[in-house]
Amino acid sequence: MAHTLEETARALVAPGKGILAADESDGTIKKRFDSIGIESTEENRRAYRDMLFTTAGAAEHISGVILFDETIRQSALDGTPFPKLLEQQGVIPGIKVDKGAKDLAHAPGEKITEGLDGLRERLAEYVGLGARFTKWRAVIAIGDGIPSEYCLWTNAHALARYAALSQEAGLVPIVEPEVLMDGDHSIETAFDVTSRTLHAVFTELRDQRVHFEQMLLKPNMVLSGYDASGRAGVQEVAEQTVRCFRRHVPAAVPGIVFLSGGQTDEDATAHLNAMNAMGPHPWELSFSYGRALQAPSLKAWAGDEANVAAGQAAYLHRAKMNGLARSGSYSPDLEKVAA
Ligand code: 13P
Repeated sequence: MAHTLEETARALVAPGKGILAADESDGTIKKRFDSIGIESTEENRRAYRDMLFTTAGAAEHISGVILFDETIRQSALDGTPFPKLLEQQGVIPGIKVDKGAKDLAHAPGEKITEGLDGLRERLAEYVGLGARFTKWRAVIAIGDGIPSEYCLWTNAHALARYAALSQEAGLVPIVEPEVLMDGDHSIETAFDVTSRTLHAVFTELRDQRVHFEQMLLKPNMVLSGYDASGRAGVQEVAEQTVRCFRRHVPAAVPGIVFLSGGQTDEDATAHLNAMNAMGPHPWELSFSYGRALQAPSLKAWAGDEANVAAGQAAYLHRAKMNGLARSGSYSPDLEKVAA
């Protein structure tokens, strides 16, 4: 069945649902596996993703899954290719298409995301493999004198080029400008940098004729730096984040799907919940979490087949909690009930 890009974008932010980011590159998944002391072999990576994607009941809270190039070509134990396995559950398969953040020339401490060369051809291949949406991540660091306008605008330009190519290929782009939470900066600084970033991103998207109705934005929340003293609480984060996005994100964009970016799982859920409790908003406010959906599951699994059920229970719990946060119906008490 053919789906329009608008339909796919809206389905990805359906009520009570959000996205699982399982698109860790080889380097990142190795880091995650190192933390549980297991080797990052192709079979271990397959088995781990198999556990997540076969979790019964997850599809009630998960609208789509972002895959990595290796994963979109892998299959479940019964031989079903992962994209098909997801579609069978009503979960939309997507694919990370950037080739990672590299050092930006003449800009110490800043990054530019690569992957535009040959992208049109790669997108056509991913369509053939069953992908219906894509993701591209730009990384913006906060530090002494950074980010520069140079870094913001070159990354915004690349994000827009990627988004236009995705739409041309019939794929919904998830545009991800991530302002990192590393550092001891205040929430005011995070607000200012996020605001400058969104200004550049939406200017480039518009100039490059990207259809706002056919995309999703995947940003950071507005947070105090990880190492800041007196970090902002849940209500302040929710208020500053909504204030910032209302200023910059056109109402034509169907949804904003936040990344978790190093927040604890429960903080990521509580922040999303507080924002939705302040609604209605011009767009859906949802999640596209990697670590905040997977961390407890990865730990429970620990690379042992005997722990698959425990890993799935941990993943299902986080998916449920974040599903409730989509309507402001989450409460931290629900964490204790599960424990
Ligand atoms: P986190 O939620 O772990 O930040 O990952 C989301 C993601 O896809 C980053 O590109």
